[in-house]
Amino acid sequence: MFFVFPSPDAIAEHLAQHLLELIRNKPDCRLGLATGSTMEPVYARLLQHKDACPDLSQLRTFNLDEYIGLPAKHPQSYHYYMCQHLFNHLGLDKTQINLPNGMCSNLEQECANYSATIAKAGGLDFQLLGVGTNGHIGFNEPGTPFDSLTHVIELSANTRLDNSRFFDSPKEMPTHAITMGIKDIMDAREVILVATGEHKAETMNLLYRSPADPAMPASVLKLHPNARIYLDPAAASRLPEEALYHVE
Ligand code: F6R
Repeated sequence: MFFVFPSPDAIAEHLAQHLLELIRNKPDCRLGLATGSTMEPVYARLLQHKDACPDLSQLRTFNLDEYIGLPAKHPQSYHYYMCQHLFNHLGLDKTQINLPNGMCSNLEQECANYSATIAKAGGLDFQLLGVGTNGHIGFNEPGTPFDSLTHVIELSANTRLDNSRFFDSPKEMPTHAITMGIKDIMDAREVILVATGEHKAETMNLLYRSPADPAMPASVLKLHPNARIYLDPAAASRLPEEALYHVE
């Protein structure tokens, strides 16, 4: 399941083509999207191919997660990230995009509604994932049960440290988030996880060696019938050669 591409850009190009093909084949497809540094080249590549974009009017997107306490217009909210990196440029209507609302006064209800909306839409055709250095997918931190639906999570010290790089001061970094659950992710018909850079190499090594275990959330993908992991050479650098499939 580990595919190695020559560079992060090669992964981005491949994924952009894959997403376009998904939409061409199923104009009303439901895409599960991720944020973070890893996804920036992917969305940039997709926008480069904007002219080749099929009709997007029936597309619906569902993001994995959102910080609690950041309004949509906060530059570090995931809502803002998605508008800046993708939605504004594709001209998607508000009714087509879904992110958990981290400002909702009834968070429990918001979580239940989010999973229910995905299910009502017929489930996700495709889920794009990044991975935290501790193996989190979405914000499902180590220990999250595999049968979890959308829920509120307290971010681990590791995640707070990793993500505080985006904030002016570490104190501004939210302590909690809403995340799609592992079951929501696993219910997607196809999943691709992307990891790039030397700082993800040890995480990939642990993922390779781990059985499917909530202690390493990304390991749940070993139980998915249609999941792949896309790596650049740096992220793949600690994996044994026999585990890798090289993509030219
Ligand atoms: C973001 C998300 C997270 C990130 C992960 C990696 O929506 O769900 O799981 O994918 O924290 O982030 P980067 O890409 O910044 O290393």
